[in-house]
Amino acid sequence: MTKSKVLVTGGVGYIGSHTTVELIKAGYDVVIVDNLSNSEISMLAGVERITDTRPIFELVDMTTLSDLEAIFKKHPEIESVIHFAAFKAVDESVENPVKYYRNNMISLLNLMRLMVKYKTKNLVFSSSCTVYGTPDELPVTEKSPIKKSVTPYGETKQMAERVIQDTVAANTHINSIALRYFNPIGAHSSGLIGELPLGIPGNLMPYITQTAIGKRSDLKVFGNDYDTPDGSAIRDYIHVVDLAKAHIAALKRLNESQNQSNFEVFNVGTGNGHSVIEVIQSFEKMSGIKLDYTITERRAGDIPKIWGSTKLANKGLNWHVEKTLDEMTESAWKWEQNLKKGFK
Ligand code: UD1
Repeated sequence: MTKSKVLVTGGVGYIGSHTTVELIKAGYDVVIVDNLSNSEISMLAGVERITDTRPIFELVDMTTLSDLEAIFKKHPEIESVIHFAAFKAVDESVENPVKYYRNNMISLLNLMRLMVKYKTKNLVFSSSCTVYGTPDELPVTEKSPIKKSVTPYGETKQMAERVIQDTVAANTHINSIALRYFNPIGAHSSGLIGELPLGIPGNLMPYITQTAIGKRSDLKVFGNDYDTPDGSAIRDYIHVVDLAKAHIAALKRLNESQNQSNFEVFNVGTGNGHSVIEVIQSFEKMSGIKLDYTITERRAGDIPKIWGSTKLANKGLNWHVEKTLDEMTESAWKWEQNLKKGFK
């Protein structure tokens, strides 16, 4: 296979770093741009230890067009882009919408402008199941309706899909796939890379691991009165390495011109839902640590349950999940323990 260069925006982040590892393993050359606003450069050392390769790293804030353009000029062999760089904290987006619209949309618009100008071939975009809002039917398929978003974060994902769709319609040299992620958790099995939340984690898995390691003492289950078997909310948790591999599969589909249109969408989940209590139980089983937690009120904006159909991705991307919930919680715990030992 001839090596082709892939620009990975946000490649130092949680999903970006795991995807970089899989890209390198698949024979791609990677150029990362990242402004390190929600990541630490030490993740690249982890990527290097896993792959024996240090990807090219460019410290760039994508909202500055000229800085991003300098990367396209410096690396004319870039054929494909995987675009992760975006803010993702749902609560913060409600408190500071301008920050979210500005960063997430200007970064994307600059990228699209340059992909048009430099005739870049492929784009894989990091979208989210949040575009489905509260689904009417489960599992959600790619044909499920897009609901009006309740948060600026969710709105930026919907708007981004639209921007990409319109741009590739008018510039048919670009082929694109939006991957709608469900809930990525876990870490690389080496324990060398993983999630690095800044401050108090908003998401469940890092809150659990930080509680178990002794950094937090107030784990809460947000609501046990949902219409679910144990009353806690259900999500489709997916191992971050399985998710990373979906990006390689999407790129392969584009590179081999198997795509049926130049804007396609795939759900990337496991097809199974797990409740908050089930995640806690899996963690307790895999770590041998009993967690103290309290049941509190529902968290504002949370939906009761969502999981996705993966049929389209299974067929179209020839991709299947390999890892179980226990492997997700076990790997997340290994990573948290390594962080305590001073890894990073
Ligand atoms: C949210 C976003 C998703 C985004 C993801 C990562 C929505 C609807 N979802 O997912 O798009 O990609 O964050 O940033 O916008 N929980 C607790 N206790 C905690 C933390 C969470 O019980 O301390 C519960 C939540 O109520 C929820 C589940 O755990 O039921 C998962 O929550 P979380 O990890 O925050 O992810 P989502 O809100 O599903």
